[in-house]
Amino acid sequence: MSDETADEYAPVLSGDAPSDYERYLRTDELLSLQKTGSERVHHDELLFQVVHQSSELWLKHAGFEVATATDEIREDDLSGAIRLLRRATLGLRLVTAQLEMLEHMSPWEYQTVRRVLGHGSGFDSPGFRTIAEVSPRLGDAFSSVLDGAGLDAVELYKRGREFEDLYQLAELLVDWDARVSLWRSHHYKVVQRIIGANVVGTQGTPVELLQRLPNNQFYPWLWEARTALTEAAKLED
Ligand code: HEM
Repeated sequence: MSDETADEYAPVLSGDAPSDYERYLRTDELLSLQKTGSERVHHDELLFQVVHQSSELWLKHAGFEVATATDEIREDDLSGAIRLLRRATLGLRLVTAQLEMLEHMSPWEYQTVRRVLGHGSGFDSPGFRTIAEVSPRLGDAFSSVLDGAGLDAVELYKRGREFEDLYQLAELLVDWDARVSLWRSHHYKVVQRIIGANVVGTQGTPVELLQRLPNNQFYPWLWEARTALTEAAKLED
């Protein structure tokens, strides 16, 4: 490479790192957020931290998209909201898929990692707290739009072709709700596999309770509409 070419591609962003890639992504800081080799009490701590930290990043992103989609629904930009909700649900799929990585830890060896977690518990996950905040607001915004169109969920499903954007949105809310439940089911299975089903967590929660959480729904009315449709179909037979 000539000196001229080297200068042409020299970093232009502010920062001390040797390249713009590292400066933009702040890789120095990012990669220093995991314990160093001498700080780790067990080899698997890196795996454990990476799964949790990357989950927090994807959840931060998903929560941001859901909050923005909610604003767009309120401003009547339904297709904009559809675009954002698609990525938010994909984010939850990624977070669910990476739970599988935790299954590579031995249940006995994990006990060594567990000893250094203090009272750390997923109940304090900022990502999941954001999801608990933004999801009901999304449901409220969508049901106001449905009300404005003079529709309820059952009517919307019966006449979906006439209200394509509303139909797509209803299905995305169901996807979102389902994805949170599916994460919880998979999380419970991982917990059961690693620490067992009849123990209490680092914040004293019986693991048994986690088994019931997948039944929680943000939008029960959208799920109940399915039952109503099945009942309505029976009357038409
Ligand atoms: C070895 C892997 C894991 C174990 C053994 C585990 C264990 C537990 C336990 C026992 C609880 C009940 C609360 C308590 O601590 O007392 C819990 C809750 C929770 N955990 Fe985990 N967990 C694991 C991985 C993860 C991961 C990767 C996340 C992603 C951020 C996560 C997020 C949560 C959340 C959000 C809750 C609250 C319950 C809910 O909303 O469903 N956990 N976990």
